[in-house]
Amino acid sequence: MQPKLYVANYPAGDFRAMPALGGGHALLKWVTSFPDNPARGLPTVSGFVLLSDATTGIPEAVLDAAAVTALRTGAAAALAAMTLGRDGSVAVVGTGVNGAAAARTFASIGRELAVWDVEAARAAALADEIGASVASNREDALAAEVVVTVTPGREILYPAGSLRAGQHVSLMGADGPGKAEIAVEEIARAHVFCDEWEQASHSGELAAAVEAGVIGRGEVTELGRVLAGEAEGRRSDDEVTLFDSTGLAIQDLAIAVAALAKVDELQLQTLDV
Ligand SMILES: NC(=O)c1ccc[n+]([C@@H]2O[C@H](COP(=O)([O-])OP(=O)(O)OC[C@H]3O[C@@H](n4cnc5c(N)ncnc54)[C@H](O)[C@@H]3O)[C@@H](O)[C@H]2O)c1
Repeated sequence: MQPKLYVANYPAGDFRAMPALGGGHALLKWVTSFPDNPARGLPTVSGFVLLSDATTGIPEAVLDAAAVTALRTGAAAALAAMTLGRDGSVAVVGTGVNGAAAARTFASIGRELAVWDVEAARAAALADEIGASVASNREDALAAEVVVTVTPGREILYPAGSLRAGQHVSLMGADGPGKAEIAVEEIARAHVFCDEWEQASHSGELAAAVEAGVIGRGEVTELGRVLAGEAEGRRSDDEVTLFDSTGLAIQDLAIAVAALAKVDELQLQTLDV
């Protein structure tokens, strides 16, 4: 799979072109991250997903990239947490579109959780919707045994020395250049996992640590290798595990194909091409 291509228009935001091929389909996601959009009443992430038949090349579906992205980002955050984290308290920090999707994923598998957001009303509304609690403050949320962070990545949530023994953190928010949710020092003392090395080391949370020479390819395990039984996950109760996600087009493809299979059940619009 080719890494995503960034078309930068900073400081406003960036566009990403994300192709994937698999399961008899090809996909292209054209999607954005424009962090100042919420202040304009617009979503941070928007765009389209195009799905085609890989044998004939014929287009099969056009999907809302924001919906596909949220479903797969929430699923990836929870899957990493269930694979690498211990069975303790869960918190989601940052309850915008993609954080809410992560929280809904945990709720859908019956996991109790707390949520927290700088916008207290947003966290409260989500907690109400899914039967979660609102953490009393950010420090409590960040100290949970399993944490998912989905903020814009403009502020370090975990400064040096802040991770607790045995914690797992799925770091979802920093998925582009210049964004970070954790200090490089904390990455250096954790057992680190990512979704895909090329992307994570160039535009994800790990980029600053790689640039500083603190971490290299040999110290980072792709989560897929753990899921396939090819690599070790958590090694002890005490170790800190981190999962850095920049998001993969192959995850979008899985969601798009699942939606295609449910066209009738979901009463999606169809047209002949
Ligand atoms: N890794 C991935 O696969 C992936 C996928 C989608 C989005 N993202 C990234 O995730 C981030 C969030 O995207 P979104 O679409 O959910 O955005 P959003 O604007 O809908 O949500 C962001 C939320 O974070 C909250 N927030 C801001 N600063 C905070 C802080 N310091 N502490 C706690 N909460 C804070 C905001 O109030 C808001 O509710 C973006 O940087 C986006 O690029 C990553």
